[in-house]
Amino acid sequence: MIVAPHPDAVFDAGWLAVRRAADSAARDERLNRLAAHWLRLRCAGRAARIVDLGCGSGANPVYLAPRLPGLQEWLLIDHDAALLARARRVLGSLRDAGGAPVSGSSLLRDLASLDDDALRDADLVSASALLDLVDVSFLDVLCARCAAAGAALLCALSVDGRWTLDPLDADDAFMRDAFNAHQMRDKGLGTALGPAAVDALCARLQAVGYRVWRAPSPWRLDCADMAVRALGFRLLDGWRDAALDQCPQARERILRWHGRRIADMARGVLRIEVGHGDVFACPAADAGPLEQMCGAC
Ligand SMILES: C[S@@+](CC[C@H](N)C(=O)[O-])C[C@H]1O[C@@H](n2cnc3c(N)ncnc32)[C@H](O)[C@@H]1O
Repeated sequence: MIVAPHPDAVFDAGWLAVRRAADSAARDERLNRLAAHWLRLRCAGRAARIVDLGCGSGANPVYLAPRLPGLQEWLLIDHDAALLARARRVLGSLRDAGGAPVSGSSLLRDLASLDDDALRDADLVSASALLDLVDVSFLDVLCARCAAAGAALLCALSVDGRWTLDPLDADDAFMRDAFNAHQMRDKGLGTALGPAAVDALCARLQAVGYRVWRAPSPWRLDCADMAVRALGFRLLDGWRDAALDQCPQARERILRWHGRRIADMARGVLRIEVGHGDVFACPAADAGPLEQMCGAC
């Protein structure tokens, strides 16, 4: 049974759809190749068991399945039944790198109770746009579970707190600080790490004996492009709402900033960069052959 998800951890399917192209463009290809080699080494002749934590509507398997070798058997986990149903449907249409269908199942589960057997047989544990929502104890459990299974971990698109807007506005730094502070509120999995998530994850992975690779995966949005503007408008609204929540006393200042930035966006003159980080890690004992396979990849 699942209790109602924390309201700050419920994501609109429209938001997940509008960010998908930017997410795909941002993710680090080398880390995908390491994950692919990892599965080749570990799973020769049998299906790879891949877990997607906080799968939402399935963006991560849509992106990864065709970049990874077959056979693939996914386990999709989320606490949002409607998003999970979408992801499950999407999974049915996916193909692996060799063009064969992938298979899998879904689990309606609060990640707060990850401390169970969901990861026991995993070969690769994956997540996208999730880790900034969790706290350090979640990372401790995640890393311990991965280490117990000997599984690799591929976590993409964790926000790193950096964002820049071009041209500059005098209140950008104020808005960014308000947003980053809001990111660290509890969203059902303890005090969220927000921008500190990637550093915290890497430290914990090293502590359980993992070799860690990390790479930046920023969104680079040129809002002269009409297709990008839909995401840009949603982003500005999200920053406004978070800042209003965080600093209600600065309401007029926030709304004036938002009004100026919406005008910039509508004129197509705004460029936005939002920092994220990707991480791939595997047991250090297996890292040598993996690096040899990857060579200059
Ligand atoms: C930002 S969305 C990312 C979704 C998807 N991975 C993607 O890249 O589009 C975060 C996802 O984590 C899920 N989530 C957040 N907190 C959760 C929790 N405590 N238990 C299970 N799922 C959770 C949300 O329902 C949502 O689908």
